[in-house]
Amino acid sequence: MTGPSTATPSRFEHVPVTVYPTSAEGSRAVAREIAAFIRAPRPGNRPAVLGLATGSTPLSLYAELVRMHREEALSFANVITFNLDEYYPMQPEDPRSYRHFMRVHLFDHIDIPPGNAQVPDGSVPAAALDAHCAEYEKKIQAAGGIGFQILGIGRTGHIGFNEPGSARRSRTRMVNLDSITRRDASEEFGGEENTPRRAITMGVKTILDARRIVLMAWGQHKAEIVRAAAEGPVASQVTASFLQEHDQIQFAVDAAAAGALTRYRTPWLIGALGDQGLEWDPHMVRRAIIWLSQMRRKAVLKLTDDDYNEAGLQDLLRIHGPAYGVNLAGFYQLQHTITGWPGGRDPKRTRPGDAPVRPLRAASAAVFPKRVLVVAPHPDDDVIGMGGTLCRLVEHGHEVHIAYQVSGSNAVSDEALMRALRFAGDAGLASPASAEKLRSMCAAHESAGSLPETPEIAHWKGLVRRQEVLAAARVCGVPSGRLHFLDLPFYHTGPGRRRQLGDEDGAIMRELLGGVRPHLIFAAGDLDDPHGTHRLCLRALHDALAGSSGEPWVRECELWLYRGAWSEWSADEIDLAVPLSPQEVLRRRRAIFCHETQKDMALFLGDDRREFWERSEDRSRRLAETYNALGLAEYEAIEAFKRFSPDEFLRDLPL
Ligand code: F6R
Repeated sequence: MTGPSTATPSRFEHVPVTVYPTSAEGSRAVAREIAAFIRAPRPGNRPAVLGLATGSTPLSLYAELVRMHREEALSFANVITFNLDEYYPMQPEDPRSYRHFMRVHLFDHIDIPPGNAQVPDGSVPAAALDAHCAEYEKKIQAAGGIGFQILGIGRTGHIGFNEPGSARRSRTRMVNLDSITRRDASEEFGGEENTPRRAITMGVKTILDARRIVLMAWGQHKAEIVRAAAEGPVASQVTASFLQEHDQIQFAVDAAAAGALTRYRTPWLIGALGDQGLEWDPHMVRRAIIWLSQMRRKAVLKLTDDDYNEAGLQDLLRIHGPAYGVNLAGFYQLQHTITGWPGGRDPKRTRPGDAPVRPLRAASAAVFPKRVLVVAPHPDDDVIGMGGTLCRLVEHGHEVHIAYQVSGSNAVSDEALMRALRFAGDAGLASPASAEKLRSMCAAHESAGSLPETPEIAHWKGLVRRQEVLAAARVCGVPSGRLHFLDLPFYHTGPGRRRQLGDEDGAIMRELLGGVRPHLIFAAGDLDDPHGTHRLCLRALHDALAGSSGEPWVRECELWLYRGAWSEWSADEIDLAVPLSPQEVLRRRRAIFCHETQKDMALFLGDDRREFWERSEDRSRRLAETYNALGLAEYEAIEAFKRFSPDEFLRDLPL
């Protein structure tokens, strides 16, 4: 995609949705519209009234507004702002408050008069809350109403903190937060139990009263909820769907967040592909066939002309029909994704008549053994996402390196660390000086119920996870000398989704790549993790590859993306499918079990309560069933990967 694309009006999207290639471009476009709104002449020089949001979504918008203030003389002197919400209870100076967020990202860098920047006050006593909320509404009215409202969208479909069930007529009030919203926020508060349960929020009606509304959404983890809000029925279960009733609403989304819209997921339902600037290339054919096979519950090779016609795929039949020919084309594509030789086969042991090593590129298939680099954002993503393939690669004799990008210390509970420290103390392994320190830490932990968040504690928590990695690597047969603990500094730069990559992260990644010079890279391509770390880790790899693009090995290198704990590729996205035997599934389970701190009480399980080994097994078994239902062989489990050629990867990583 090269420029923004607005929907051709279709019966599917009930709001205007503009899709930008990247979130940066989308944010710049929204910033330009806001700047024009602020600069527009108003009768009597009345102030421009903005409704503002917090969270990760508007960060690049605020950065752009600050830039425009500095470089393009955009003044906020005659602007009044009202923020959507604030946690309750919450002191305004608390670094986790939305008031603080707004100061750090916007208010402190522009010329808005301090009294003009309104945020609900999370510190008012409970008895005064109703009056405070009514007062907030009055202030909005007195300012002339909100002229331009920006919104993010939560994974529950909330706007502001209007969680599922909020009424269309609701006004500013106190609300209980949904458990998914609290889990998404939990990293900032050091775990779910410390995350506020309540918040003050503008109501749905307060938002709908704004004269212009732009809802922004970036990233694949928002794709399903964007689809529900834009294409689903208007219902209080997805409060963003109420926006369909506003006549000046605009959704601004990036390509990843748009991915579930009908025009991208099943464009043939909208009309002939040619009319949409699309074509029936092999990938589109495969997608349509898998979709049809799953919808009709029939193996691909059993689909008939009637199946195609009745499902609206006449266009495909017309161009590539009859059905059996199309079926075969799709079937072969699927079959060619499967290989038990993810790094290629040893040419010395290849006999005439052996199946070709697909889907590796011919040039790379000839190199044996290969240097393989598995890049894991957290210390357990490698075994959760591709533990079976990892063991296979080692067994085939490849030189397998694993790089762990962040220490994972944030997900180690205080209890887990105290267990390790107490063991060292009880076993007499601590020096007299450290034994004394240990005693006072134990006492402090017992009295306060938690440990302070110091760099030293974070370092020790990281070491606990390092031991787990070493144990898991032994299960997989990877020598400790090929494990690279990168401990990228960005991980410690702030809470949750507000972290940013720095130069040092890039330098560390480039040094790793230059040291290993891999023929194959396997990286975590799931951009759905609740804390956003995977996205930044993939971005760090992307930038490092871009920085090394002059090196000959980069052009030769093949790049595969695996999925971590949060989601699986859909069958039509898969380029490499590695079948696993029942024994390999058990071995992967043993490797995942080594990550003891992430069992049972893991801090960041997300909204799926299954443990990571269960997710990994369910997911890979389900994928094997999916392949089988499509008419391919019946395997115990499959691990799946999507190809990213370096060129494509360097061009448009969907972040
Ligand atoms: C923030 C707010 C919320 C967020 C939503 C998305 O003021 O009201 O509705 O916009 O939770 O959050 P992010 O942008 O962090 O994904």
